[in-house]
Amino acid sequence: MRFHVLTLFPEMLEQGLHQSILGRAAQRGQLSFHMVNIRDYTEDKHGKVDDYPYGGGAGMLMQAQPVYDAYRSVASEYESRHEGKIRTVYVTPQGKTFTQRLARELAGEEELVFLCGHYEGVDERVLEEIVTDYVSLGDYVLTGGELPAMVMIDAIARLVPGVLHNGESAENESFHNNLLEYPQYSRPEIWHGKPVPEVLLSGNHRNIQAWRLEQSLQRTRERRPDLYEGYRARQDIIREMSVRKRKNIHLMELLSRDLAQEVCRRERSFLLHVDNTRTYALYAESERDARGLFEQCGDALQEKIRILVYLESVRDFLKERYDLTVGGVCYQACFTRRESLGVRHRDIRPLNIEELDRAAGWYPVCGRDYLRRRILAGAVFGVYINDCGTRPAGIIGLHEDGSMGMLYVDEPYRRQGLASSLESWLINRHLRRYEVPYCRVGEGNAAAIRLQEKLNLCLCEEPMWWLEK
Ligand code: ADE
Repeated sequence: MRFHVLTLFPEMLEQGLHQSILGRAAQRGQLSFHMVNIRDYTEDKHGKVDDYPYGGGAGMLMQAQPVYDAYRSVASEYESRHEGKIRTVYVTPQGKTFTQRLARELAGEEELVFLCGHYEGVDERVLEEIVTDYVSLGDYVLTGGELPAMVMIDAIARLVPGVLHNGESAENESFHNNLLEYPQYSRPEIWHGKPVPEVLLSGNHRNIQAWRLEQSLQRTRERRPDLYEGYRARQDIIREMSVRKRKNIHLMELLSRDLAQEVCRRERSFLLHVDNTRTYALYAESERDARGLFEQCGDALQEKIRILVYLESVRDFLKERYDLTVGGVCYQACFTRRESLGVRHRDIRPLNIEELDRAAGWYPVCGRDYLRRRILAGAVFGVYINDCGTRPAGIIGLHEDGSMGMLYVDEPYRRQGLASSLESWLINRHLRRYEVPYCRVGEGNAAAIRLQEKLNLCLCEEPMWWLEK
């Protein structure tokens, strides 16, 4: 991922960003930092970049011209390679508050611009032309935008696949699932008379997991009652839906993994929007409920939507109302056990973007662009066996809504259990994160259905449909 920073103090960021984890990721080529000194772009012969505000008032303002030209130096290069405008964050106490959710969203971009303000601010006219996101660190005022930009860059960059060495560590921590992280201990076993909690020395991983979850809950309740309330409210809905788990698993997992936000709710029905996608998921037990809900939604939906429904009458109503196309029938399958599965072929790892063409040939369903984004998000995995040299023999991936999919094994390597290894490996990865693994299989895909049965996934008998525009 590439970060461009428009600043009057490039040395400050050079120093700060080229250290430690981010510095090493930059050396490996996973991140790159490009500081643009706004002063280099001024047309003023004395190098001035600020002036008095019209109408009077304290302090000076950054002028539009140097900021705009500094921005154009980055934007024109970007526009020669991409369609649309480069995402540009202006760090300002007047923006929306920076959160882990926004960090996740911004980590999905390939390039980002940060504009660091100074003095009393920046001429409004240039902000109107270049800024896509106004973002604040919190309700306090700092002397300039460099420190907040560095904080945001750090939080975003560490989510880029490969930046943190242990792929798990970005996910088992504070704010994952909106709970605070459990307490951690290292050697010695007793320090200042305080022993390490016994369960952590037991070697019983199931008990350790249960203890950690309990600690997370307790800590969140005590320290962040606001987060805890949100968690409790989500758990109540999930519990209600769990009566029909096979049918509702996608909604339950979207909520418990915190991958979606509620767009609208009416009585017991609600509509979720999956973060950073055009995908929606609907909970409505009847056509009447769905009609009422969408009446209330008004035009809160995006122009191009993709939505998963499981009632024929609701399907027909939505098709009509939003002029959608109905995709094929599919069935959900979920893994409800806690024991992990044996994996025969163990060399499974995130797919390199160099394999995009190959993978797109294997899995053309969602389009090359979608696959590219999923690979860049570290959500597609290849299995490597000796016969294939350095290339993968098959793939599996996680869709944007968290479901497993994209499973494919190359023709010459079939009937060796590779598909089974891939899916078992991915199931185990979910279990380590307290997630319920699930997938959808297309009607008539006998091989996929056989695999789900072999791995003990529970298949839902009710069909589902994707509707999209
Ligand atoms: N610039 C000055 N104060 C700031 C804040 N709180 N957040 C982001 N940018 C700022």
